[in-house]
Amino acid sequence: MHDIIKDLHNRYTVKKYDASKKISADNIEIIKEAIRLSASSINSQPWKFILLESKQAKQRFHDTFAIKYQFNQHHALEASHIILMAYNPRFTKEQYKNVVDVEVSSGHLPADMYDNMLNGGYTFAESNTDDNGFNGHWTKAQTYLALGNALHTLARLGIGSTPMEGVDSKLIGDEFNEELDGYVCEAALAMGYHLDGEDYNNGLPKARLPMDEIFVVL
Ligand SMILES: Cc1cc2nc3c(=O)[nH]c(=O)nc-3n(C[C@H](O)[C@H](O)[C@H](O)COP(=O)(O)O)c2cc1C
Repeated sequence: MHDIIKDLHNRYTVKKYDASKKISADNIEIIKEAIRLSASSINSQPWKFILLESKQAKQRFHDTFAIKYQFNQHHALEASHIILMAYNPRFTKEQYKNVVDVEVSSGHLPADMYDNMLNGGYTFAESNTDDNGFNGHWTKAQTYLALGNALHTLARLGIGSTPMEGVDSKLIGDEFNEELDGYVCEAALAMGYHLDGEDYNNGLPKARLPMDEIFVVL
């Protein structure tokens, strides 16, 4: 079996973490860099990732489960790290300039193509923006690409993970208001090492629809 497929068979959603096991600083840097390198439409990168590492930060996240999704709450303190994956609900053309600046300064885009990319590229954002300037459906989709990329990277590193939509976006928005700075978190990613014997998801076979049900090959 190819190593990629082995990784994807081995990764699964951890249901119980060993609070004594921490992800190394070197691996955290790899995870951060992999997320940073994620692809996004028009290279918009309309995301922000809040990495919760300290006990105090994880406690703040823990507190956001006061009302709902308590089944995920224990990960907040037991997982080694949590990433709040946030999207920009109003990605503006002004903000897109930051991206086009980097396109040029990195050597990826010739300077004389600046306006072409800014105006041409942003039409994709515009076509996903409503009359109130909201384009969160589109920017959230980009953020999920980073989530998927993180899951795959963690699988390669042999680190357990739990993607969580079961998070209280409203309470996270209140608690991390300053750090989010207008971005919206509707999904989080717990990461760490599973607790032997107590993680009921560990070792189960993958439950996926058959290939011919999801692929149409022409
Ligand atoms: C976007 C997303 C949100 C999810 N939310 C939760 C969650 O809140 N809690 C949880 O325990 N699992 C959550 N899951 C895990 C899925 O249930 C799991 O990925 C799916 O059943 C496939 O199993 P596997 O990840 O073990 O292969 C989520 C997965 C994704 C991709």
